Amino acid sequence: MTDEPISLRAALARFDRLWSPRIVTRVNDYDVRIAKVAGEHVWHAHADTDEFFLVLEGELTIALRDGGAAGAGGRAVTLAAGEVFVVPRGMEHKPSSAAGASILMFEPTGTLSVGDRHDELPGHLDATTGHRL
Ligand code: NI
Repeated sequence: MTDEPISLRAALARFDRLWSPRIVTRVNDYDVRIAKVAGEHVWHAHADTDEFFLVLEGELTIALRDGGAAGAGGRAVTLAAGEVFVVPRGMEHKPSSAAGASILMFEPTGTLSVGDRHDELPGHLDATTGHRL
């Protein structure tokens, strides 16, 4: 943590790994995390928390489905830079970005990037509670 202003642009320039969130600061017991993303994440859900997304650059799609009946009631939202969206707790979701994006997430410290339940993880995905910058 720092008591100096944090440049998100500078913070984003400090890492390249995709789908590997970095903690830029904390608010009470919440992390502010940034990530670079491209391609597809996996379907996953966070049983105990909502998840806040803000798109900093590029465009992010979040596919959503109710965890009840597999595949039923699915939809997707697409967020442009400057747009925010909250995935409700328990909702299965799969972020993706065909052309790549930089995003900011706000969620309780300790929240796993791949949720509490998820599809099998491809090698390029990082199951993490957020890395130090
Ligand atoms: Ni999630």
